Amino acid sequence: MSTTQDQPPTRTARPIQAREMGRPVVRRDGRAKVTGTATYAAEHRQDALHAVVVQSTIARGRITALVSAQALAHPGVVAVLDHTNAGRLADTSDRELAVLQDDRVGFRGQVVAVVLAETLEAAREGAALVKVSYAAEQHRAELREQDATDTPEKVNAGYPTDTDQGDVDRAMAEAAVTVEQTYSTPYLHNNPMEPHATLALWDEGAEQPLVLHDSTQGVHPVAKTIAPLFGLEPAQVQVLAPYVGGGFGSKGLPHCHEVVATLAAQAVPGRAVKLVLTRQQLFALAGYRTATISRMRLGADAEGRLTAVGHEVLEQTSAIKEFAEQTATISRMMYAGEHRRTSHRLARLDVAVPSWMRAPGEMPGAHALEVAMDELAVAAGIDPVELRVRNDQPEHPEEGTPWNHRRLVDCLHRGAASFGWGGRAAEPRATLDGDWWVGTGVASATYPTYVMPGNQARVVALEDGRFRVEVGAVDIGTGASTVLAQIAADALDVPMTCVDLAIGSTDLPRATVAGGSAGTSSWGGAIAAAAEQLREDHGEHPSPGAESTAGGQADPRQQDHAMHSFGAVFAEVRVHRWTGELRVARLHGAYSVGRIVNPVLARSQFLGALTMGLSSALFEASVRDPRFGHVVTQDLASYHVASHADVRDLSVEWVDEEDTIATPMGSRGIGEIGIVGTSAAIANAAHHATGVRVRSLPVTADRFL
Ligand code: MOS
Repeated sequence: MSTTQDQPPTRTARPIQAREMGRPVVRRDGRAKVTGTATYAAEHRQDALHAVVVQSTIARGRITALVSAQALAHPGVVAVLDHTNAGRLADTSDRELAVLQDDRVGFRGQVVAVVLAETLEAAREGAALVKVSYAAEQHRAELREQDATDTPEKVNAGYPTDTDQGDVDRAMAEAAVTVEQTYSTPYLHNNPMEPHATLALWDEGAEQPLVLHDSTQGVHPVAKTIAPLFGLEPAQVQVLAPYVGGGFGSKGLPHCHEVVATLAAQAVPGRAVKLVLTRQQLFALAGYRTATISRMRLGADAEGRLTAVGHEVLEQTSAIKEFAEQTATISRMMYAGEHRRTSHRLARLDVAVPSWMRAPGEMPGAHALEVAMDELAVAAGIDPVELRVRNDQPEHPEEGTPWNHRRLVDCLHRGAASFGWGGRAAEPRATLDGDWWVGTGVASATYPTYVMPGNQARVVALEDGRFRVEVGAVDIGTGASTVLAQIAADALDVPMTCVDLAIGSTDLPRATVAGGSAGTSSWGGAIAAAAEQLREDHGEHPSPGAESTAGGQADPRQQDHAMHSFGAVFAEVRVHRWTGELRVARLHGAYSVGRIVNPVLARSQFLGALTMGLSSALFEASVRDPRFGHVVTQDLASYHVASHADVRDLSVEWVDEEDTIATPMGSRGIGEIGIVGTSAAIANAAHHATGVRVRSLPVTADRFL
């Protein structure tokens, strides 16, 4: 078979023997990062022009006049682009990306102009001098239950919006114990350390007219999305992202700043343009987690065995582009129960476009389901760990398929033993230590196992038994580049020191996004496939220069299995009896995620996600002012994230496991599961400490007074 770069053979690689995998190798990029030599997107091209965006001050309406004369007169300002003079996009169907194309305003904070200048200061001053007049129209920017009536096309990740089996109403009526409550989670914003930044260079005559240094979770996905907007083929766009300072989903899909930077670069051909969003601008332009309202119904028999599971979700999207968080999907698979119904309904508001944020769907959904399970445990008089064990399910409760590995019960038992769950008081408000009420809580966690199609890798034999391994993956700070080198070494059966790994560029074989906790699984599968292909093409000892490219293919057995990881989170909280101050004294997570490729980096991933879960439990909430339509808490002074002093005793453990259905490495994804259920474990512990049930996040001090 001939092997071209565009159509390499695809294969499901055989399981790889672990030699380097499993070792606590330190980050390959650690030294470059801590010594400041790692180059991030905005650190290239010191000769670049600086771009600063002007954002709309109305939530809905039209621009009636945009005057840039004063801005253009400011020293250093080179150009001002708006909808009257920016280049025309070849496709304007995606209204988040179709910026500077017409006079319509769909949300407050939308980009209405961009100022280019020789210095950042001049660009900022220029942006302040652009005068925009609007004809404002009536807008809607408040999520009200009565407005969330639209059924989305589908929910994120392609799940159906609704499921219905049996008769939930009847099962609820006949149940010995029931819980019927509403839970809510607020708007949440990703705040990666490195803000979104794009450096664009347009050169009409070049083979690749567009070059982007981009802070992104996926170089090839950016090329694929941006190219057609500018009438280019993806291969005509070069995207580079050797280092990225976090993303959490907000850099998973291109947002409008990549388009703005490219339009700006088009206006000054041959000159690089640098666009760095400010922290404040991220709150309107880089996606966010929508607020959710979950109406939960649980019915069980006297022993706590679920008979009915109902999860009705009300949430919002932007009127200009639909994004529906898959909040109820976790309730479709977590526990037993014959009668089940789930649904998602949207209010379409004149607000910024929501998008991915770590464990979209599972995070808010688990909060609702796992607090409801705690309420059921209390109502039935059953220990919350035991209640979850009793509702373990040997197959997917709605689809009837077997699990790849379902070791939730192991996680609950091991986690309970490590945490010291035994001997817990059955009644809430039982332990007062000085002025602090003390309590413990638990929640289950899960995350789907995705292996994305369309990943390719190339392996080239070098001198001295070394290999160059290429894949267009991106390491957003997870340690992916280290882990991929370990995988490549084992796939090629050489020590890790013999592997030169190249990632972070569209010059390398096509790869999918660092998202869905699927990066390592998907890219690693492609590397394993390419290593096998090399052996097939060139024998056991390929001579220097021999190379093979192959695409990874998920194991076909995944079609007949419900692919998930599982975990259990345990929290101990202390609530001050007079002030209501809540402190998470301990947090422990026990996980079943397949083989751990690198225990040091895996531990960091889990601790990071647990911290993000703690942060969402206690602090994080974006406050939108419906009168104006924007988020007012748009900086880290008013959008609080957990700081060091908030994070005390965190620990994680995992069960020894190898999942050969999931990947040739035996591993599954680990990026997101740590944020799933964590807020519920903390809210449940707060109830155990105080007897006060908090159903809406964040769990703030005033709830206990
Ligand atoms: Mo993650 S929210 O899939 O980048």
